[in-house]
Amino acid sequence: MDKPSKIAPPKGKLGVLLPGLGAVSTTFMAGVELVRKGKAQPVGSLTQMGTIRLGKRTDARSPLIKKFVPLAELKDLTFGGWDIFKDNAYQSAANAGVLNPQDLEKVKPFLSTIKPMKAAFDHDFVKMIDGPNIKKGKNKYELALQIKEDIANFRKTSRASRLVTCWCGSTESFVKPEEVHSTPEKFIEAMKSNHPEIAPSMLYAWASITSGVPYANGAPNLSVDIPALQTLAHDHNVPICGKDFKTGQTLMKTILAPGFKARMLGLDGWFSTNILGNRDGEVLEDPGSFKTKEESKLSVLEYILQPKLYPQLYGKLFHKVRINYYPPRGDNKEGWDNIDIFGWLGYPMQIKVDFLCRDSILAAPIVLDLVLFLDLAQRAGMRGIQEWLSFYFKSPMTAPGLYPEHDLFIQSMKLKNTLRWMKGEDLITHLGQEYYD
Ligand SMILES: NC(=O)c1ccc[n+]([C@@H]2O[C@H](COP(=O)([O-])OP(=O)(O)OC[C@H]3O[C@@H](n4cnc5c(N)ncnc54)[C@H](O)[C@@H]3O)[C@@H](O)[C@H]2O)c1
Repeated sequence: MDKPSKIAPPKGKLGVLLPGLGAVSTTFMAGVELVRKGKAQPVGSLTQMGTIRLGKRTDARSPLIKKFVPLAELKDLTFGGWDIFKDNAYQSAANAGVLNPQDLEKVKPFLSTIKPMKAAFDHDFVKMIDGPNIKKGKNKYELALQIKEDIANFRKTSRASRLVTCWCGSTESFVKPEEVHSTPEKFIEAMKSNHPEIAPSMLYAWASITSGVPYANGAPNLSVDIPALQTLAHDHNVPICGKDFKTGQTLMKTILAPGFKARMLGLDGWFSTNILGNRDGEVLEDPGSFKTKEESKLSVLEYILQPKLYPQLYGKLFHKVRINYYPPRGDNKEGWDNIDIFGWLGYPMQIKVDFLCRDSILAAPIVLDLVLFLDLAQRAGMRGIQEWLSFYFKSPMTAPGLYPEHDLFIQSMKLKNTLRWMKGEDLITHLGQEYYD
């Protein structure tokens, strides 16, 4: 597409719709409110803290990203969501146990007002949980229409001028793209006939897109990553992106692996294991949900290391990922990596990483950035898959036939160059010959 000729200003409120009011979404909303009240810093958020270099290194032009492109301001964000449980966002955040009670108390009145709408849920897709706050309908199409109605009501009651949806619901069972996902018409027929391969997350995506609302997918579910919904996104001028927030262990992988490859260090094996005790961990105990997550986590190294191009270095890599549900840890996951590398003349070495991370603390700023960037993209007239947001995902969506970029540093350059391109600034190639002429 051509460079956007103009970007509409972010006038009025931006409504954020969250299917899934669990650990990630409540940590995100609580954090936005704490930052708005001046009680915390938005650490980890590129839109809030990042700068962007423009022109030559000698030009000394590095504005904040939020000053460079017209983003919605935090004060203008308003929130809504759906969940299978009736807990309001405060109760859900207290239950998730990510933020300490002192921080939660400061935002209790705000979070308590956010009450979940009834969810479109199918127990076959998330086997480990069940809840009472669920929509009823003759078929999946009716449920999708009810979600559309929810969106329209939220738009009215919140008086938001624009909306963005970000899936923060549980990881659903593994679904492969099939014929029913191929066109908008077949997709509607499949919803009407209650086809088993139409997952609830797809209903939210369909309802959002056909309501003109951008959609980000934070989980590894197929969700919006099917041709039917991508065609609709194009037709309705809606930007979309996914899948699976890149946090924790995979973030570390996409930081470390590009470094090994850049220095032509070989890899024999990479064994990753995790313990986590939150609801997400419980859901991933189910083999169907785990398979969806595993696919998402495994693909990363293959694309970064390119074993076909470097068979001597990466042709025999053994890559294994394990996730173990261990309740005592709650949201504070521990991820271990044992990396068997080899160097000059094939001599072996080992690297051990023990990351005591906080999953939702890493995910919350990603939700914020995605919401603000998707809204920006829509105001700039961009639609369909937003590959420049790969930076935030474990399994970035791409055009058919294109392999995804997983290297965090390539992703970061792609994101920043897209912002420069949107504003008509020179792209930065890091060539730098001009400094030596
Ligand atoms: N925390 C991270 O770092 C991270 C990283 C990558 C991806 N994710 C993904 O983000 C998602 C959210 O993670 P979390 O830790 O907040 O999980 P969570 O279990 O705390 O929250 C998910 C919520 O979604 C609700 N839900 C399930 N199906 C629903 C449906 N059909 N409609 C509405 N609500 C539904 C559940 O009841 C639950 O409250 C998960 O899919 C997870 O795999 C999280």
